[in-house]
Amino acid sequence: MKISPLCIVLACVSLSNCVTVQTHSLDEELYYKDDYKTHPCNRPCEDQAPPRLCRYKWVVENYWSLSKACLDCPFNQSDCFRPHCVSTDGVQRGIVSVNRMLPGPSIEVCVGDAIEVKVYNELVSAEGTAIHWHGLLQKGTPHMDGVNQITQCPILPRSSFTYRFKALEPGTHYWHGHAGMHRADGLFGAFVVRQPPSREPHRSLYDHDLSEHVILVNDWLKGMTLPGYLKHHHSDELTMPSQMLINGLGAYEEFKDGNRSVYTPRASFTVEGGKRYRFRVISNAVVVCPIQVSVKMCLHKDFLSFEIS
Ligand SMILES: *[C@@H]1O[C@H](CO)[C@@H](O)[C@H](O)[C@H]1NC(C)=O
Ligand SMILES: *[C@@H]1O[C@H](CO)[C@@H](O)[C@H](O)[C@H]1NC(C)=O
Repeated sequence: MKISPLCIVLACVSLSNCVTVQTHSLDEELYYKDDYKTHPCNRPCEDQAPPRLCRYKWVVENYWSLSKACLDCPFNQSDCFRPHCVSTDGVQRGIVSVNRMLPGPSIEVCVGDAIEVKVYNELVSAEGTAIHWHGLLQKGTPHMDGVNQITQCPILPRSSFTYRFKALEPGTHYWHGHAGMHRADGLFGAFVVRQPPSREPHRSLYDHDLSEHVILVNDWLKGMTLPGYLKHHHSDELTMPSQMLINGLGAYEEFKDGNRSVYTPRASFTVEGGKRYRFRVISNAVVVCPIQVSVKMCLHKDFLSFEIS
C-alpha cells in the first residue's frame, strides 16, 4: 500500500499529541451587518418555485458591548447603528456574538430551502461551541441538531463546522448557542421559515409579514453569565437580570450630556395606518421566563406610536 505524504504528516501530528487546526482567512465581508437583510434567500415564497441553497458564514467571537466601534454612541444615536456596534442597554460587558451582531444574523428562508451555515469558532476563551436550530425537527439529519456533546462534538476553537439541513417546518423559530452559557451571552438569532401564501393558514389576517417586524426578546445581565450563575447558586444573593432587550436594544445605563440624560436606542417598529402586520415574537429567556410582551399604542396628533415592553 502506498502511503501518501499527507497521511504521514497527520500520523506525526497525532503521535506528538498536537492538535490539527484548520486555518482560514476571515475576510472582511463576513462582518458586514446588512448582509442578512439582503440575503437572496429572504424573498417572497411562491408556489412551484424551486427551493434554494442558502449559505451563511458565521464567526463566533468573544466581543464587547458599546465597544470603540460605537464611536460617539449614545451621544450620537446614529453611531449606535454602525457596523460592529452592539449597543445593548448601554452597559459595557463581554458578550458572545456571531459576526459582531446582537441578536446574531437572522435566517429567513422559504420552506424546503437547503440551509448551509459555516460556523467558525474564534472564541478567545478557547471554549467549544455548537449552534442549535430551535424548532427545526432535523428529520433525516439528527447530527445537525447542534446540541453540544449529544448530537455533535463541540466545534473546537480555531476550527469550523458546516451545518447542512433542510428547513422543512414553516414558522417562527430561532437558533442559539448550545454550549456553556453562550446563549445567555448573546449567541442567538431569528430563524423564520415562510411558505407560499396559498399554504399559509393565517394569510388572511395580515397585509405584511416583514423582516423588520420580527421581535426577539431576551433577559440580560450586567456582565458575563457564568459569574452571575455561580453567585446565584453559591452565595446569598440572587442574580436577576437588570434588563430585557428587544432586538438587542434597551435603555438602562444613563449617560450625562451636560444636564441632559441620554440612553442607548430602544427598538422601534414602523407601521402604516390602515395596514395589518404580522409580528413574529421570539423569546430567548434564560433566567426569567415566561416573558410578557405588551404593546401600548399612543395616538398623537398626526401619528400613532407603539411602545413594546
Ligand atoms: C453622527 O454619526 C453619523 C454617522 O454614524 C455621522 O454621519 C454624523 O456626522 C454624526 N453627527 C455628529 C453631530 O457628529
Ligand atoms: C440645561 O443646560 C442648558 C444649557 O446648556 C440650559 O439652557 C438649560 O436651562 C439647562 N436646563 C436645566 C433644567 O438645568
